[in-house]
Amino acid sequence: MRAKRLIASVLSCALCAGVMPVLPVCGAESGSAAVTVGVNSNITDASNNVGAAAATTTAKAAPAVTTTTATGSVSVVTIRLGDVNSDNRIDAVDASSILAAYARMSSNNGATGFTPAQAVAADVNMDGRTDAVDASCVLAYYAYTATQGTSSIEDFITNNMKKPPVTTTTTATPVTTTTTTKAAVTSTTTKAPVTTTPAAPVSSTTAPVPASSTTTAPVTTSTTSEPTTTTTTTVLTTTTTAQPVSTTTTDPYKVSAIKLSKTEIELNVGNGDLSYVTMLPATADKREIWSCSDENVAVVDNEGWIVGKSEGQCTVTVTSFNNPEVKAEIKVTVKDPHKVSSIRLTKTDIRIPIGGGDISYVTMLPADATNKAEIWVSSDNSVATVSDEGWISGINEGTCIVTVYSKSNPNVSANINVTVTDPSKVSEIKLSKYEMDLIIGTHDISYVTMLPRTATNIDEVWTSSNPAIASVDSWGNVYALAEGSCTVSVISKANPAVKADIKVTVRSKPVVTSATTTTTTTTTTSTNTTTTTTTTTAAPVTSTHLIQNINGATFVDGILVVNKTYGLPADYGTPSLNANALAQFNKLTQEAAKLGLSIKCSSGYRSYSDQEKIYNNYVAIDGIVKADTYSARPGHSEHQTGLAIDVNSIDYTFLDTPECEWLAKNAHKFGFIIRYPKGKEAVTGYSYEPWHIRFLGVDTATAVYNSGLCLEEYLGITSAYK
Ligand code: DAL
Ligand code: ZN
Repeated sequence: MRAKRLIASVLSCALCAGVMPVLPVCGAESGSAAVTVGVNSNITDASNNVGAAAATTTAKAAPAVTTTTATGSVSVVTIRLGDVNSDNRIDAVDASSILAAYARMSSNNGATGFTPAQAVAADVNMDGRTDAVDASCVLAYYAYTATQGTSSIEDFITNNMKKPPVTTTTTATPVTTTTTTKAAVTSTTTKAPVTTTPAAPVSSTTAPVPASSTTTAPVTTSTTSEPTTTTTTTVLTTTTTAQPVSTTTTDPYKVSAIKLSKTEIELNVGNGDLSYVTMLPATADKREIWSCSDENVAVVDNEGWIVGKSEGQCTVTVTSFNNPEVKAEIKVTVKDPHKVSSIRLTKTDIRIPIGGGDISYVTMLPADATNKAEIWVSSDNSVATVSDEGWISGINEGTCIVTVYSKSNPNVSANINVTVTDPSKVSEIKLSKYEMDLIIGTHDISYVTMLPRTATNIDEVWTSSNPAIASVDSWGNVYALAEGSCTVSVISKANPAVKADIKVTVRSKPVVTSATTTTTTTTTTSTNTTTTTTTTTAAPVTSTHLIQNINGATFVDGILVVNKTYGLPADYGTPSLNANALAQFNKLTQEAAKLGLSIKCSSGYRSYSDQEKIYNNYVAIDGIVKADTYSARPGHSEHQTGLAIDVNSIDYTFLDTPECEWLAKNAHKFGFIIRYPKGKEAVTGYSYEPWHIRFLGVDTATAVYNSGLCLEEYLGITSAYK
């Protein structure tokens, strides 16, 4: 005999969880179970309605519901398992209402619509659920009592309908049995329902159909009534024999496996995704339990919706509620697109003197990174220290590495190689040229700059790797003595570790004009193909300079030359001012501005057609002969190279300005020369133009300036139209 006392809150939890807690009998009648359902229960006291049918059936369990009123008084409701409608009968009507409740669960968020008392009565197999199994048990019991069965429903279920619910396959020849039962009932006759085939359960997948639905359900019932007593005649038509020949038992609700639509999910922080779940078999209980291994990384809700919280990896697990041994896992990777992924620096090499400082500006990428904070570290604070803002201070002579890290993503960093020098010591030597191509018997010089300029001892020591080919004196004059190649080197006397080399080639004869060598180089990149044709030709017989024609332009000793002798193809180069020339010109104007001088670019790059218009205009005004003295013919203007700039007024009013004087004395420091100097008109082919400067780079411009020569003289070339 089952006897249970259940507490309401426990009851609701237990029903949800599919568990029926069993507590000791306490004050309930033998054969009854008391259930406390609270003050708002709508259960009526049915304890007195346990009718003759119940009474005539021995050992019928009668759970009781205790109703506690607001005033604290307690009433007890006795419930018969299976008698859902409390009509003192356990029949197809009860089975139908159980199935209807089961069907409601799908459209009603799992609620059966039963009162707690009905829920207790309906759960005849006491598995904590109201479902088709209970309905099939009720129907089976109904058939059993209709064929003279006398056991209680509990015993019947224990003996015949043990969980899991039974699927019966019958192979016996169906027979028709007609049974007449006489039962004394006190109530008026109630018609049994006509339809006894249980409705399909709720689930959208194929619902399990209890075995009894095809075996023992009463199909038709006819009832006759007499005034004093009621005789109920039940005609059962069954499609099975009492003894099936063979029986196979399975649990259609039990989950055997979980399938996921994806087992790996990648998310950005703040975004969500899910993996669709299939519980197997198709008839299985579909309830899911979701959990996550690391809720800092991602969270998952009861329906499996996963949301990324922070960068990292975690595992989301779905477990079958029905069979917790069955689980499936999703590997979740969360990424943060707004995290710093790289660092760009304006300088990766810094050279500073002891006591000096410098900075390399930082760009954290991507541009929309949320936290761009920096952490700066020096590998050797005895050499250089670095502030939190990245300012590097030289402490002692030596080298070290300064590193900037992203504070939010310390895996990302960038390095600066730092060299700290003693300002009184030479640490670097720069030369005006690093290559010499000499004819035997000639000599050349490469001008030296010892750095830093604060060095106290700038003495030079010159050596030749082969003095028989080229010797060098203590001032750096290189003398070509015999055919061959060698290296001429200069070191700092105060700091012999600092050195610079000149590659010297000595030839017995000058490069012959008629001897031409053509080299074609084709460079293919992913976007285009560039063909460069280099022709080494045309050095005057007496020249000691290397003359090259590269893509139609002339280079003398590596310097692009444009004058009356050497023209340019109409489409030469990039149609803009050379970037280095522009940067240096900007420095020049800034330095001049510090002195209150205003130097502006009035004419920079010109195309072939620009020059054509300018020149033709002057020809129209002054005629060809005069125009040729001050204006280049199209294809022969330095302005077409992007390396020449006319400043300020572009006429002789410029001569009277302090800007003119300053430019003449300082342009070379920024890499420019006054290209058409006074007194050199016959060599350059043009009138004096104090406003026209030409970019050569600081070293060459300084060498040309120091030589006192114009560019044609410096390179040993002419300027005359052919
Ligand atoms: N005025 C110079 C020579 C030019 O036209 O390029
Ligand atoms: Zn010019």
